[in-house]
Amino acid sequence: MNNRDVVLAEKGFLDFEVDPALDLFAEIEKLKKEKNAVILAHYYQEPDIQDVADYIGDSLGLAQQASKTDADIIVFAGVHFMAETAKILNPSKKVLLPDLKAGCSLADSAPGHLFKAFREKYPDHIVVSYINCSAEVKALSDIICTSSNAEKVIESIPAGQPIIFAPDKNLGAYINKKTGRNMVLWNGACMVHEIFSLEKITKLKIRHPKAKLIAHPECEDAVLAVADYIGSTTQLLKYTSQDSAHEYIVATETGILHQMQQDSPGKTFIPAPPNNNCACNDCPHMKLNTLEKLYLCMKYEQPELLMDETLREAARKPIDRMLEISRAAGLIGG
Ligand code: 13P
Ligand code: SF4
Repeated sequence: MNNRDVVLAEKGFLDFEVDPALDLFAEIEKLKKEKNAVILAHYYQEPDIQDVADYIGDSLGLAQQASKTDADIIVFAGVHFMAETAKILNPSKKVLLPDLKAGCSLADSAPGHLFKAFREKYPDHIVVSYINCSAEVKALSDIICTSSNAEKVIESIPAGQPIIFAPDKNLGAYINKKTGRNMVLWNGACMVHEIFSLEKITKLKIRHPKAKLIAHPECEDAVLAVADYIGSTTQLLKYTSQDSAHEYIVATETGILHQMQQDSPGKTFIPAPPNNNCACNDCPHMKLNTLEKLYLCMKYEQPELLMDETLREAARKPIDRMLEISRAAGLIGG
């Protein structure tokens, strides 16, 4: 790489030409072995990336894998807050993200300085933050949760203890309903999960009367109210492989359909329709990562996720707390 390329790579603008004749799957496998690298991928990544990953999972599974890997390099095929979490858990390892610009609308909805001011208004409240937030917000939180363990995390807090839940108001409202708490909610949401059209879902259900609607708890209350099953990406996947129905309308990002189809080849999965004709149920942040960028980032070991050590230490405590609660609840192994 010349100097200009290094600068571009560090900024996350990896748009080199990759020889289209190159077998990227074979090259990536070779780089994994040469560099003792592990690829962790979220279910919302494109199918090719999922197929080349060593581990595919939801946010909780990915955080747990990141906490126990013995690889020297963690290549995070996901978005920025996920790679940040991996770095927080592995300060001595190199953490790479194929495109540093792969952000998250939900994490962006809670800028650290505004969240700090919000938290100061509720000095007697415990702060539980969804893992989809920046390291700054994590450092201002008492416990982190994911959609897999949010209910257990909230139940681990004594009844009567007031709680702030951030940044997802939809997940927060859903957990309030399930646990009977009255948590103060930060007003954030995911652009993908807020786009589903209840009207179009209702029509789709009429056209497919045997199809079950399954939804991620980041969806709005109106969609969750008509869902047959609600869960994190891993929980949705498990449900579809064990359930007896043959058809599902899936209200979450479309990337998950790849594993659903692989696990249950005989079943039909219909992406829930967005409220206009865009492909807005594809997360534009997740989809910034491509197989080419994954290959380039492994080859050049750029862009790397770096973090201030004081911030990292402060952000680690609430993640460790989450992992302890999840272990105690049997949600993850030791
Ligand atoms: P989970 O994979 O934890 O269900 O989270 C979904 C999500 O939106 C990740 O960005
Ligand atoms: Fe963030 Fe939503 Fe994309 Fe997940 S799907 S990364 S919550 S914008």
